[in-house]
Amino acid sequence: MNPKQVAAEKAVEFVEDGMIVGLGTGSTAFWATQKIAQRISEGLTIRAVASSASTEALAGQLGIPLVPFSGIDHIDITIDGADEVDDQLNLIKGGGGALLREKILARNSSRFYVVVDETKRVHRLGRFPLPVEIVPFASNLTIHRLQELNCEPVVRMVQGSPFITDNGNLIVDCSFKEILNPVELQQQINLIPGVVENGLFVGMPTAVVVGYGDGTIQILE
Ligand code: 5RP
Repeated sequence: MNPKQVAAEKAVEFVEDGMIVGLGTGSTAFWATQKIAQRISEGLTIRAVASSASTEALAGQLGIPLVPFSGIDHIDITIDGADEVDDQLNLIKGGGGALLREKILARNSSRFYVVVDETKRVHRLGRFPLPVEIVPFASNLTIHRLQELNCEPVVRMVQGSPFITDNGNLIVDCSFKEILNPVELQQQINLIPGVVENGLFVGMPTAVVVGYGDGTIQILE
């Protein structure tokens, strides 16, 4: 069985009637959204908010009732993927370019379940280049400031053009190789004018559900 699907479906067991559910983005969160739709068809009643335009479209296709953010004051549970998970359950997210909206959902959720396959587990973050969302204005200057933090920043491109986020911004993938102090680094990055948000999610998950190729799961909390 697909380990991403196994992890995602386990996390959906924590969704209960009446909840406001945050839907994540990416190929693992996809399976959670599918499972939520299945449970709705079996009688589950929830309302959902989406972390990206692509997830919003998927939820719409699957008949998941979406509510505007103006209509809610909290989120009960969010289920989302990650690009790396370290031993302290800190994350790198944003491989799909949705890190800003994902972080808003996670920060405003009573429970934040992260769903990954075993390949995402690392002792120390940084092998995966850290995505940073920046405004397009004077982006070369912002990128220089990021470089001063000892990384190799690369503007994310898609088919020869810069990748544009749902918020109209750029993503810079910053290769640090090893992130020794995620708490300090997230603060340093977000202090740079022009940076909107970075993909470090420090101390945020309620639990991380890891799926393995043999169909087993592990819940880390
Ligand atoms: C999107 C994300 C994703 O959750 C992350 O990239 C993991 O994706 P996948 O489940 O496809 O491996 O942060 O911005």
